[in-house]
Amino acid sequence: MTGTRTILVSLVVAVTVASCIGGSDRPDPQVVARGAELYQQSCVQCHGGPNGGEISDIPPVHNANGHTWHHSDCLLHEIIRDGLPPRADPDHPVMPGYGDEFTEEEIDAVLAHIRTWWTPEQQAQQAAVTAETCPST
Ligand code: HEC
Repeated sequence: MTGTRTILVSLVVAVTVASCIGGSDRPDPQVVARGAELYQQSCVQCHGGPNGGEISDIPPVHNANGHTWHHSDCLLHEIIRDGLPPRADPDHPVMPGYGDEFTEEEIDAVLAHIRTWWTPEQQAQQAAVTAETCPST
């Protein structure tokens, strides 16, 4: 009995350790799914989906062809929450804010969804920019 228990405990420890190593940047599938739902409802009509588009598109595409991944998590979070000010050109489309509609967690879920579209290199670079510029909580 004691032997079985020891094996079980070791197994749990091993699995926990394994999921922590490299697991910190692995997104929670439930959060990503919630983000995908919100993105489909509120963002896809302007920003497009996981494929297509190019870096000069307006509104910008958020996938690997766009430039969203150049920005830190806290900046992206702020843009989604507060929107962006209108440009001088009245024909330039405007990014609306979602702070009244989404919770902070929902904004993070949308970002988690968008992040899955980036290449591993883009994800790594964006994580580095985030670590450098965003206050850690
Ligand atoms: C009515 C169209 C429209 C909708 C809907 C919209 N956006 Fe935008 N968004 C824009 C435009 C236009 C810009 C560029 C504004 C500028 O550069 O002045 C933009 C810019 C952004 C940016 C900054 C640029 C970048 O790629 O980093 C982010 C992030 C963003 N939007 C996220 C979202 C998310 C997330 C949603 C859904 C919750 C959303 N937007 C819904 C039009 C829209």
